[in-house]
Amino acid sequence: MTVTTAVSAAQLPLEERAALTSGADFWTTKPVGEVPGFVLTDGPHGVRRQEASADSLGIAASAPATCFPPASGIGQSWDVDLINRVGAALGVEARELGVGVLLGPGVNIRRDPRCGRNFEYFSEDPILSGALGAAWVTGLQSEGVGASVKHFAANNVEADRMRASSDVDDRALREVYLRSFQRVVEDAKPWTVMASYNRINGVYATESRWLLTEVLRDEWGFDGVVVSDWGAVVDRAAALTAGLDLEMPASGRDDQVVAAVNEGSLTDAVVTEAAARMITLGTRVAEGQRPADLDADRQHALAREAASRSIVLLKNDGGLLPLKPAGRIAVIGSFAETPRYQGGGSSHVVPTRVDVPLDRIRLAAPEAEIVFARGFDQDGGTTEQLTAEAVHAATDADAVVLFLGLGERDESEGFDRDHIRLPDVQLQLLAAISAVQSRVVVVLSHGGVVELAGVAERAAAILDGALLGQAGGSAIADVLFGAVNPSGRLTETVPLRLQDGPAYLTFPGENSHVLYGESVYVGYRWFDAREAPVAFPFGHGLSYTRFEYSDLLVDEVDGGLAVTLTITNAGSVAGREVVQVYSGLQSSRFGRPPHELKAFATVDLELGESRRVETFVRRSDLAVWDTRVSAWVLEAGDYLISVGASSRDLRLTATIGLAAEGPRPPFSLDSTLGEVMADARAATILSPLLSRMGPSDEIGETLGMDIARMMQSFPLNRLGMMSAAPDQLEELLAQINAE
Ligand code: BGC
Repeated sequence: MTVTTAVSAAQLPLEERAALTSGADFWTTKPVGEVPGFVLTDGPHGVRRQEASADSLGIAASAPATCFPPASGIGQSWDVDLINRVGAALGVEARELGVGVLLGPGVNIRRDPRCGRNFEYFSEDPILSGALGAAWVTGLQSEGVGASVKHFAANNVEADRMRASSDVDDRALREVYLRSFQRVVEDAKPWTVMASYNRINGVYATESRWLLTEVLRDEWGFDGVVVSDWGAVVDRAAALTAGLDLEMPASGRDDQVVAAVNEGSLTDAVVTEAAARMITLGTRVAEGQRPADLDADRQHALAREAASRSIVLLKNDGGLLPLKPAGRIAVIGSFAETPRYQGGGSSHVVPTRVDVPLDRIRLAAPEAEIVFARGFDQDGGTTEQLTAEAVHAATDADAVVLFLGLGERDESEGFDRDHIRLPDVQLQLLAAISAVQSRVVVVLSHGGVVELAGVAERAAAILDGALLGQAGGSAIADVLFGAVNPSGRLTETVPLRLQDGPAYLTFPGENSHVLYGESVYVGYRWFDAREAPVAFPFGHGLSYTRFEYSDLLVDEVDGGLAVTLTITNAGSVAGREVVQVYSGLQSSRFGRPPHELKAFATVDLELGESRRVETFVRRSDLAVWDTRVSAWVLEAGDYLISVGASSRDLRLTATIGLAAEGPRPPFSLDSTLGEVMADARAATILSPLLSRMGPSDEIGETLGMDIARMMQSFPLNRLGMMSAAPDQLEELLAQINAE
């Protein structure tokens, strides 16, 4: 619809403006003038449209909607085009169901594998999360439906999520936890951002003016509405002052807003601004509404494509996969019959249909004899009979497809796991089966990462399905028999043991504080810096074909680096490679991981085909957050740009020298000799003087000491210990700073 008469917030009485800053009910906003109220609902991987009764835990019924793979699944596609199309498909469905804003995507970082909500988040890496989230938002909003990027910010644990403070240093915040949000906001211009429940360094996200106004609006240029997570607002006036426009759901506390203005603790202008943003959003939503051309089959087909692109081939000894659709195939495990394809909590949707893996395997291999054994129950139970049947089925089979995973009760929004092992009964079953059968393919269903060392020892092949949405069953059959060549890649490191991870000792926190002691060393940044063994590295994933990398070129171009290389399909079938571009700077004066993901691309190649692949590394993504100046700076130096198939499989590396960019703190008498000498300009100006002040290099030579190195940490004003500091020094420093 077109809204013809603009409503001006400034002309509304205070009571009406205040009313606009909270919901009308659980899912709806209030109308004003010609601008109707609209519905916001979950999200992210399907539309959860509740009509009768409402809740934020996915309990009460909702209308059937296509269940696409949750972020933990679809993230493994590393495919921005696919995710963009899924976003658009969600937009069509949202319109059909009368939804104006869909609550997603979740771009929080998977800091620790135990977080119960990791299945709703794309990755442990911010650039990957940001790029995929931006693609989702662009797709959704192209259909006239708004996104709500969540949960802003540093919401990386479920335990105590409504109170706990994420105590994070500024570098980690900027470089890791905010970076995914920044990319989505700047690239995709979401209509709304959802402020999270938690505190950040002691301040509720919903009350943080620094977060919601200074960073989000002033720095990143966000022009939409900040909505609270459901029930996240503690103090209405404080939240409005911080920049939170809409409290959800309805709380009936608008009178507190009016009272705060009347008593002077909240300015009238703040309420006007929030109301104005709500009117703009309501108008956007109204204008986005148009008839939806919804086709359930088409949606399901896209869900199937997305699911097949989400599957990661972790291991394939002896080329066991793809299976021949012939002979006797034993399909074992309860998940084959009752698939687990989404996570629990607010994102839980009622699917329009569900493809059952066992049925789909039968359909894909009509000539084969498929025998099924349940093997175990998803709640962790089993019986001797179930085990015996499974082992019997496995014994004379030509291959076994064993479905393992986590059940609905094992993980969910609202709580975290205390371990990352698969249920014992499943591991025992795998051991029993592998004792009688060597051709075992394990298919995994799980939201958060699971420990796999024991599985990898016993299974010849592993397909990681994460969570695949309602069409997962078809996708698994497609990949098992080779109709689809797997191309998914891990978006989170699979550690050998939970104890090896960076947040092992500080997750989930204590006394309502979560100390992010590992700082920027999250995920592979931590494992790779320590050269620690892992079960499967970040970015890993095999294919039924083999790719070769050659001719890497790195050029400085406007805004960043053009990274170009040739990929050749040197194997035996068509396939898709996910090219990953990492950067590192060995000479950095910041603590840095050896390499960090900066760009990626997917490329489809026919058998024998070679293609030049072009990727772009943004200059801003090479910058680090310098806490001395509270700004992004690009350090000068020789950057190593590597391309490869995982963070542990870097195939080619090139070096490119970049000049410094961004502010630097002024030099003072407190600057050290090392800092001064590291700056070419300062070094030239000050060297003659400084060489007269400290002990000479010749003395060092005579004594066999590295005097220059010993002196590096001396502040200039302490050089006086060696000789009187000349007044000239201060003048020269002023001159350098002025330049
Ligand atoms: C969740 C949000 C969700 C909201 C509405 C909250 O509990 O954290 O992600 O969008 O409920 O259901």
